[in-house]
Amino acid sequence: MTAKEIRRAYLTFFESKQHHIVSSAPIVVKNDPTLMFTNAGMNQFKDIFLGEAPAKYPRVTDTQRCLRVSGKHNDLEEVGIDTYHHTMFEMLGNWSFGDYFKKEAIAWSWELLTEVYGIPQDKLYVSIFEGDEKEGLPRDTEAYELWKQFVPEDRIILGNKKDNFWEMGDMGPCGPCSEIHVDCRPDEERAAVSGKELVNADHPQVIEIWNNVFMQFNRLKDGSLQPLPAQHVDTGMGFERLVRVLQNKASNYDTDVFQPLIQFISQKAGIAYGACEKTDIAMRVMADHIRAISFVIADGQLPANNKAGYVIRRILRRAVRYAYTFLDLKDPFLNQLVPVLAEQFKGVFDELFLQQDFVQKVVLEEEVSFLRTLATGIQRFENYTKKQGELLMSDNAIELEKSFEDAWVYSILKDQMMISGEFAFELQDTYGFPIDLTELMAREKKWIVDMDGYHISLEKQKLRSRAATAIDTGDWITVHPDPETEFVGYDDLEIETKILKYRQVVSKGKEQFQIVLQKTPFYGESGGQVGDTGRLEDHSRMFFVEITDTKKENGVIIHYTDTLPEDTDGQFWAVVDEDKRAQTNNNHSATHLLHAALKSVLGEHVNQKGSLVNPEYLRFDFSHFAKITDSELSAIEHIVNKKIRENILLKEQRLVPYAEALSSGVTALFGEKYGEVVRIITFDDNYSKELCGGTHVQATGQIGFFKIISESAVAAGVRRIEAITADAAEAFVVNQTQEINQLKALFKGNKDLSGAVAALIEENAKLKKDAEKAVIERSGNLKHEIVHHMKTINGINVIAVQVDLPNADAVKNLAFSVKDLVDNLFLVFTTLIDDKPGITVMLSENLVTERGLNASNIVRELAKDIQGGGGGQPFYATAGGKNKDGLTKVLDKVTALVPAE
Ligand code: ALA
Repeated sequence: MTAKEIRRAYLTFFESKQHHIVSSAPIVVKNDPTLMFTNAGMNQFKDIFLGEAPAKYPRVTDTQRCLRVSGKHNDLEEVGIDTYHHTMFEMLGNWSFGDYFKKEAIAWSWELLTEVYGIPQDKLYVSIFEGDEKEGLPRDTEAYELWKQFVPEDRIILGNKKDNFWEMGDMGPCGPCSEIHVDCRPDEERAAVSGKELVNADHPQVIEIWNNVFMQFNRLKDGSLQPLPAQHVDTGMGFERLVRVLQNKASNYDTDVFQPLIQFISQKAGIAYGACEKTDIAMRVMADHIRAISFVIADGQLPANNKAGYVIRRILRRAVRYAYTFLDLKDPFLNQLVPVLAEQFKGVFDELFLQQDFVQKVVLEEEVSFLRTLATGIQRFENYTKKQGELLMSDNAIELEKSFEDAWVYSILKDQMMISGEFAFELQDTYGFPIDLTELMAREKKWIVDMDGYHISLEKQKLRSRAATAIDTGDWITVHPDPETEFVGYDDLEIETKILKYRQVVSKGKEQFQIVLQKTPFYGESGGQVGDTGRLEDHSRMFFVEITDTKKENGVIIHYTDTLPEDTDGQFWAVVDEDKRAQTNNNHSATHLLHAALKSVLGEHVNQKGSLVNPEYLRFDFSHFAKITDSELSAIEHIVNKKIRENILLKEQRLVPYAEALSSGVTALFGEKYGEVVRIITFDDNYSKELCGGTHVQATGQIGFFKIISESAVAAGVRRIEAITADAAEAFVVNQTQEINQLKALFKGNKDLSGAVAALIEENAKLKKDAEKAVIERSGNLKHEIVHHMKTINGINVIAVQVDLPNADAVKNLAFSVKDLVDNLFLVFTTLIDDKPGITVMLSENLVTERGLNASNIVRELAKDIQGGGGGQPFYATAGGKNKDGLTKVLDKVTALVPAE
C-alpha cells in the first residue's frame, strides 16, 4: 500500500463505523495560551472534552498535522539521529465524544490493524494502565478483559503512569490509555527473543504505533483529578510509523513518505543515502525539518525572534547547519525541497501546494541570512579556539584560570583543550550551531566540549524563558453549571446575563480574574481583532466592575477584570464600550476593503498573512514580493475611499456551510481553523467577500475616511500596511494641514513649498561650509594672538589661556598650529563649547622625551578642577568635565606643573 492509500484506508474504515471525517486543524495554535503548536489530534477537541463546547458529531476521524518540538512532548533532539522520531508528523485519530467507549475502540483498532492492514497478530503487543496508588487510580481491568478476547495474555503488558496515562499538558483532559506496539524484527529474531521486554525500551524495531486514550479526568492546577462530565475516546496513530510497518521498512525514512525528499537531497548533494551514517543523519534531518518548516509557514507563522517564530527559525537553522557541514551544501538549498513536499501533500493538505511560491521564498530568505550568520559563527569558533589555545600555551595561565571559574575544569584544561559550556551554548543560541556540530568541530581540532557546562547554560535559559512567560492560573470556580455560552455581540452591546464560572490568574506579578458569562456581547480577541472592553454592572446598576479585555480560548469567551463582583451569583448587565467598538468596527471593515483593493492593484497573489484591528488603527500583513510604490499606495487608498463613499451596506450571512461558502468565491485565510458552518461578510458581491468572525460597520460610509500611514517589509515576501480611519484619519489630515500652513506662513505664502525647502537646505549647506572655513581662518589668526600670552618659566615656553572657538576640531587645529610656531612648548587651553568645559594640553616632543612630561597625566590632573576626566597621547591630550566654574582654577594651576630646570 502507498502512504496515500494507507491514510485513505484509515479514514474510510472509521467512516464505515459512522465517524464524520473532519479536516486537520492548522499546525500553529492561535487561541490556546498553553500551546504553541498542535501536538496531538485531540487539541482541536479540547473544549469538547472539558464540556465547554457541544460536540457537533458524536464520532469523528481525521489526520492531523502535528509538531512536537516544545513543551511537554518534545522530540527535537532525537530527530534524524534515530529513524522514527519526527518534528512534524501526521496523527491519524478517531474520537468518541461521550459516545462509544473502550469496547468499541479496542475492537475496532484490532480489526483495522489485523484485517484491513493485515499486520500479523503475533507481531502485536498491547499495554494497559496498571494503576497508580498515589493518585488513587485503579488498574484498567476493563481494557485488560477486552484485549484478552483478541490477544494472548502474555502479550498484554501492564504499563505505568508515564506510558499508560495520557495527559495533554500540566493541566487539562487526561485518562488511562492502551498502546499498541509492533515488533518489526525478522521472524528468527522474534522466535529467539520475545519482544515483550523490548516494548517501551527505545528499541528501533519494536515501536509504539497507536495510542487509545480513554478520557475520563481533568487535571486541575493543584494536581488533583476531577472526573469529566462524560467519558470519551481519543486515539492517535503515528502515520509515518504505520506506513513503515505496512511497507516493511527498517526506518520511517525508507517509506514513500520521506523517500522523494531524501532522493532529491541525495541527488543534489551527490552522495548516496546509505553511504555513511553522518550524511544519512543530515539527509534525515533535512527531510524531516523541511516538513515542519513548510507547514508552519503555510499555516501563517513566519520565522521570528520569539515564541513560535523562534522555534521554527531554530529548526530551519538546524537543517541548514547539517546540510552545510555534512553534505557540503554551502548555498541555499533547503527551499528547493518545498515544491517536492507540496507535490506530495497535494490533495491531503492543500495549504502548502497553494502557497508553494510564498513558502519557498520565505525559506530561501531565511537560509540566505542564516548562511551569513553561520560564517560569522565559524569565525567566532576559530577565534575562540585560537585565543584559548594561545592562553594555554603562554605562561599567562592566570587569565585562563579566571575565564573558567571552576578549578576542576582548569585542571582538566591543562591536559585537554576544552570549549566552555557557555561558549558552546552561545554558538547554539546565537549562531544556531546544534551542540553535536560544535562537538564535531571541536573533535576535528582534538578539543572537547564541556557538556556539563553546556547543559547548565541551557537549563538557565529555559528557566529564564519559563519565568518570562509564567502565568499562574487557578482552577475554575463554577457559579452556574452550564456548558453553553453564547456570543450575542453581533446584534447587542448590552444584555442581561449570569456568571457561569471564574478563576484567578497571576501574570507577571499582576493578579486578575477571568470570568465566563452565560451570554455575552463582548467580542473575544480573535482573527486579529482585539477584545472588547466595558463593564459588568450588578442588577441594580449601582455597582460595576471594569472588563479590561476579552479573549477567546478554545472557543470560550473569557472576560478579564482586576476585581471580582462582590456577589458572583446574581444577574448582571454586560455592557460593551460602544465608542471603542464602533472605532474597531471601522478599522475591521476597512481591512476587508483594503484586502480587496490590494488584490486589484497588486494582483491576486496577495494573501492576508496577519492583521491587527483595534480602536486606534489597523495593521495588515500580506504576501507580496516588492516594495509598494507611492502611486500604487495612492491607487489603493483611492479605491478604499471610493468604496467608503459608495456607502455599501453590510451583508452578513451566518451559519453558511463551509463548502457552500467556498464555492461562492469567498476569500478564506490559510492557517485559520474554520468550522462546519461559517460567517460571510460581504461588501458588494463583486468587491469583497470574506469568511470572518469579527464585527463590522453596517454600511461602509460609517468608516468616513481611510488613510495609509505606513508601508514596510515584515519578512521575506511579506509587506505591512498600517492605516487609520474615521476620526483618527481626520485628525491626521488636520494635523498635516496645520503643519503645512505653518510652513507656508514661514515661507510667506510661497506656493512651491517643497521647492522653497529644497532651496533652504541648499543654502544651509553652503552657509555651513562658509562658517567652517571662517572658523579655520579665525583659528589661524588666533595663533599669533595666543603667542603673546606666552611666558617662559624655568626655560619652558608656557601658554595657559582660555580660547573661544565653536568646536573641538578648531581647538585642536589651533593647538597644532601653535606647536608648529613655538619650540619647547607647554600649552594648556581651556574651552567652553556648548556650555561644556574642556581642557587641551599640547607639549613639544622634547619635553616628553627628554623631560619625561606626559600630556595625558597633566590633563587628568587639571581635569579634577572641572570634575572631569580624559586622556590621549603623551604629547597631546584632552579632557571634558561638568564644572565650568573650575576653568579659571585650571589656568592658575598650570605654572605649578611646569618642572624645575
Ligand atoms: N492524544 C493521544 C496521543 O497524542 C492519542 O497520544
